[in-house]
Amino acid sequence: MPITIRSFAKINLGLKIGPARADGFHELRTIYQTVALHDVVHVDVQPGSGIEIRCNDPRVPLDASNTCYKVAERVMKVIPQGLKPDSENSHHGTAEAVPFQNQNHELTRASKVVIEIEKQLPVQGGMGAASSNAVAAMFGLEKALGTELVEGERQRIAEEVGSDLPLFLVGGTVLGTGRGERVQGLPDIAITHLVVVTPAVGVSTPAAFQRWDELAARESGLTAAEATGTIEEFGQGLFARLSEMAYPQARPASGVPAMGGDRAETLLLDLVRAGTENDFERVIFPEYPELREAKRVLQREGASYASLSGSGSTLYGLFDSADEAQTAARRVSAAGYAAVATKTLTRREYWDGLFL
Ligand code: C5P
Repeated sequence: MPITIRSFAKINLGLKIGPARADGFHELRTIYQTVALHDVVHVDVQPGSGIEIRCNDPRVPLDASNTCYKVAERVMKVIPQGLKPDSENSHHGTAEAVPFQNQNHELTRASKVVIEIEKQLPVQGGMGAASSNAVAAMFGLEKALGTELVEGERQRIAEEVGSDLPLFLVGGTVLGTGRGERVQGLPDIAITHLVVVTPAVGVSTPAAFQRWDELAARESGLTAAEATGTIEEFGQGLFARLSEMAYPQARPASGVPAMGGDRAETLLLDLVRAGTENDFERVIFPEYPELREAKRVLQREGASYASLSGSGSTLYGLFDSADEAQTAARRVSAAGYAAVATKTLTRREYWDGLFL
C-alpha cells in the first residue's frame, strides 16, 4: 500500500545572514513558519531493489541528486541500526546491532523504493519544497517499512541532506540557527492569513549566498568579526523577544502595552514592528527587479508585512483576515502575478495534516 503524505511549504519570518564559515556554509538566524500550501508525496516499497523517483514537473531531477533520493538512500542504510529503542525489534541493553529476523528486515533487504512527487509548490522558490519533500519521503518510508527512526537519526539524516530539512521535523513556528539546520520549536504564532506570490523565475540558493559574499566584500570594513557581531546582535534581540514572549510575567512593567496580549500574536507583531527583514532581499532585488515590484504590489494591496521567503523567488504578504487575503490575491493576480491566498500552520495542524 503506497503511503501518501502532504509535504507542506515554509516561509521565513526574517532571515539574517552571517559570515561564511570554514565549511563554506553561512551562519544564519531565521524564524521558519510552515504554511498550508503543499506538494503531495507517495512512497511505496516494492519487491526488487533501488530507488525510483517520479515527478510531474520536468524541472525536478529524478536521479541521485534529488533530495528524496538522498533521504531514501540514507534511511535504507540506517534502518538496521536506527530503529526506535522501544520498538519490538530492539534488544535493550545490548550493544549489538538490532537483529532482523522479522518481516520488516526482509523487506528492507530486498526492496525497491518508489517515491512519486506531485509538484504544486514552486521549484527553487524559497519555500523549502525540495527539503519538505525529502522529509515527507522519510516519514513515508518509515511508515511503508513499518519502522520508526529514532529522533537523533532523523535529525542526522535531515541535516546531512540539507540545511532546510530539519525544520520540517518540527513544524509550526521554528527558530533556525547554525546554517539553518539547528532548529527549536517556538510557541506557535497566531494563525495568520497570507498571500504567496510565485514569480516564474527560480533562484539558486548557493548563487544567492555567493552574491551575499560579494556584497559583504564590497562593503569594505565589514570584517568577519563585525559581521559576526551583527548576527549576534540580531540573535540577542530575537532571543530577548522570544523570552519575553515565553515568560510574559518577567517583562518589565514599562513594557509596550500592545505586547501584553496573546503571546503568539505578540511574536509576530513584535517581529514586524522591529522591522525584521530578510537579508537576501539586498542581493536578490537588484538582480531581479520584478521581485521588488511584486513586494510593492503586496504592500499596496494592504499587507501588514511583506517579504521575500528564503532566497526567493517567492514573496509573501501577511493580511489581517482570510477575506482580505483572498481579495488581495485576486487583485495581485489581476496585476499579472501568480498569487494564492493561504494561512500559517500551527505545529499541531502540521502534524495532523501530514498523512492523507
Ligand atoms: O544545505 P543546502 O544543501 O540547502 O545548501 C545548499 C548550498 O547553499 C550550500 O552548499 C551552500 O553553498 C549554501 N548555503 C550556505 N549557507 C547556509 C545554507 C546554504 O552558504 N546556511
